[in-house]
Order: sequence, then C-alpha cells, then structure tokens
Amino acid sequence: MKITVLTQFPDMFAPVLSESILGRAAEKGLLSFDTVNIRDYSLDKHRKTDDTPFGGGFGMVMTPQPAFDALRACGAEGKRVLYMSPRGRMLDKDLALELSKEEEFFILCGHYEGVDQRIIDAFRMEEVSIGDYVLTGGELPAMVLIDAVARLIPGVLSDHEACFEESVYSGLLEHDQYTKPRVYEGMEVPEVLYNGNHRLIHGWEYENSLRLTKKRRPDLFEKYLEDHGELSKDEKKILDTVLSEY
Ligand code: ADE
Repeated sequence: MKITVLTQFPDMFAPVLSESILGRAAEKGLLSFDTVNIRDYSLDKHRKTDDTPFGGGFGMVMTPQPAFDALRACGAEGKRVLYMSPRGRMLDKDLALELSKEEEFFILCGHYEGVDQRIIDAFRMEEVSIGDYVLTGGELPAMVLIDAVARLIPGVLSDHEACFEESVYSGLLEHDQYTKPRVYEGMEVPEVLYNGNHRLIHGWEYENSLRLTKKRRPDLFEKYLEDHGELSKDEKKILDTVLSEY
C-alpha cells in the first residue's frame, strides 16, 4: 500500500512513521509513505499557502493554487483522497478496514480555518474526522488514521488475527490483561489465568469482555447481541448468565 500525505509540516511525520510497527512495515515493503510539502508548490514570492477568508472571520484558509499543483504533481487526480477534518465521516473500524484494502490513497492535512472548498470539490475528497473535538491541524489525525489502517494490512502485525481479537474488532472491548508477578503490593492476578486450563481461561476472558462492554459501551453490547456469530456451548452459557443480570 502506498500512502501520500500532503502537508505544510512534513517533518511531523518522520518520527512517527519510521518507528516501531509502522517503521517495520515500511522496511518489509508492506507499506510506503510519502510526504509532499504543499509550500514547495506555492507560486507566491513568500511561498504563502493560505489567505484570509472571504466573508470575514478569524484564521487563514489554504489557497487553491499550491494545493491543486501539489495534488496534481503527486498523481492524486482521480484517486482516493481523504481530507482530515472535524466535519468528516467518523473514523471507525469499518472505514479502517475498507482503507486497509486500498492499493493507494492520499491524505490532505489542513491548518487554521481549513482549506478553500474548491480543493475538496475538485478532487472529490472524502472528509474524515477522528472525533468530535478540534485539533490545530490535520497532521495528528492523519497519523492516527495511518496507524489504524496499517495494522490491518496482512503481515504488518506478527499475527494478523490478533488485531481482530483486540477491542472493537471482535465486537467487544478487550478483556483485562495481567503479567508477572502473580502478586504485586498484595493485589493478585485472577487464579484461573495461570492454572493452564485454556477452556477456563477463555471463559474468564469472554465473561470479562462481556461485562466490560455491557458496562462501558452499552451501544456496542447491543450490537454484539444482534450479531455475534457462532458461539460455543460454554460461551452461550456465559452470555446467558451475564444477560440474566440485567
Ligand atoms: N482537524 C482538526 N480537528 C480534526 C479532527 N477532529 N479530525 C480530523 N481532522 C481534524
């Protein structure tokens, strides 16, 4: 997969994209990132990329010329282009999964008050938000999106299945996790987790996930009840117990 990010702040990306899982994915050739500095395409003598908004108001708006030229130069025309914006479709597991199957896509990051609407319209951009809050620019949202998408590409995580078991990908929140030592400052790890009985361990994890989801995310829990796929006999029993506690 190739992801090209158009930004006025390309240096923000290198430390994140070259580290850890994303860095390894790039080294393995599963992913390639490119950043394009929109400022490099400005024909203004001061390399300006924004101007005051028509209609008045505070802030600055990205001007069409550098953005159009940068998008055309990197081959974004006719391709899937995302624009990170709090007005957009909320990033969720469905969108992340959908993007993980793309060969290539582009991301435009805006700043200040946003970008001239003609940039969004001409390149048929999809606006994507990472939450109902406003950040100072689209760079951090773009990195969040890239991380969420990259870990779904087969081979990026050492065990591809693992990413589907975690948290919302199974439809439930992930169960509590413990590691050594068994007792720390008097607090004990649940015994079932180190007795070696995998059936009991799975049962404990499933029950823990169910209870956590029911309490913290009743919306996800309701969805899980409607569409949880095949359950084992043990799982059915655990689910019935948790449901009977309504
Ligand atoms: N740019 C500023 N805030 C944003 C948000 N919440 N999501 C995506 N892009 C943004």
